[in-house]
Amino acid sequence: MSTVATATAKEVFDLLHEDLAAIEREFGQDAVSAVPAITEISDYLREGGGKRIRPSLLLLAARALGYSGKGMIKLGAVVEMVHTATLVHDDIIDAADTRRGRPSTNRTWGSSKCVLVGDWLYMQAFRIALSERKFRVLELLIGLTQQMVEGELMQMEKLGKPISESEYNDLIYRKTACLFEVSMRLGACLSGADRPLEDALGEYGRSLGLAFQIIDDVLDLTATEQVLGKPVASDLREGKATLAVIHALENGILPADRTRIHTVLRDRTFDYVSHEEILRILNCNQSVAYAMNTAYAYAATAQAALAVLPDSDYKRALQWMPEFVVARDK
Ligand code: IPE
Ligand code: IPE
Ligand code: MG
Ligand code: MG
Repeated sequence: MSTVATATAKEVFDLLHEDLAAIEREFGQDAVSAVPAITEISDYLREGGGKRIRPSLLLLAARALGYSGKGMIKLGAVVEMVHTATLVHDDIIDAADTRRGRPSTNRTWGSSKCVLVGDWLYMQAFRIALSERKFRVLELLIGLTQQMVEGELMQMEKLGKPISESEYNDLIYRKTACLFEVSMRLGACLSGADRPLEDALGEYGRSLGLAFQIIDDVLDLTATEQVLGKPVASDLREGKATLAVIHALENGILPADRTRIHTVLRDRTFDYVSHEEILRILNCNQSVAYAMNTAYAYAATAQAALAVLPDSDYKRALQWMPEFVVARDK
């Protein structure tokens, strides 16, 4: 175990400030096309903010291994562009009205245009990645894209139905944790890390990403739209069973409560059973606590995977990240 203390949010912000600013500029320059809708929609999304977790992971992985070249700025922009493209597509699929506290792009520009802008952003990300001239980089990005598409498709096929915890884990790995893992692997790859080292950092990203999506799903159940900046209670309304709901269904709740959850999942509305009623059932059965504890366990696994790194401020920042992810409120 490392002897270095975990960093604070301010320290991590200061540590990454300049690199993240360079990534913003890179993204701004990359997402420009002669077709105005592409530039307009990309700018709108970029200016909407976002936590920039994925490029931060890539930067920290690269710098923790002693890398300091331009590649991390380019690939940092690449992972944020891939993330942005998936948000555009995800909001179309979920028919979401709000993203990052503003109208979603599909609501403003319509779904047809946004599908194409998402595709363009994906391909532009690949074009920028090509400049690294590394097959491993492309291999990681291609595998990632396929996992993410498979994750969204699997989710679609399960809508309205209860799923098992192992199906849920598989799904959230593909749709979310894989990009966290690949961000870490890309950072390692830039520094010329060998495969075992890349794998260890990949494991950190995977566990962190699983914790991240479990918390996203808990926040969907427990937060307010004002704080979250996107619709709440939307998963159940879209027919998605997430970890707390799966736990409740699998752990001997009262038959009447089970029926209530099934009703919301099947009908995809809170018209017959309210959101408050579902929350009461989940809290009564310790199901929200179960989901939180699962996320804490993944966060600890992520931190343990950092043992391979030499001590540095970057390692301390990586140690901080899982704590931030599980404690966040948006
Ligand atoms: C949202 O990701 C999509 C999920 C994987 C849950 P983030 O919560 O990282 O979104 P931004 O970039 O901060 O808006
Ligand atoms: C995240 O899943 C999927 C992505 C890869 C974008 P969600 O559907 O839960 O994401 P949010 O809640 O809309 O951000
Ligand atoms: Mg969504
Ligand atoms: Mg969500």
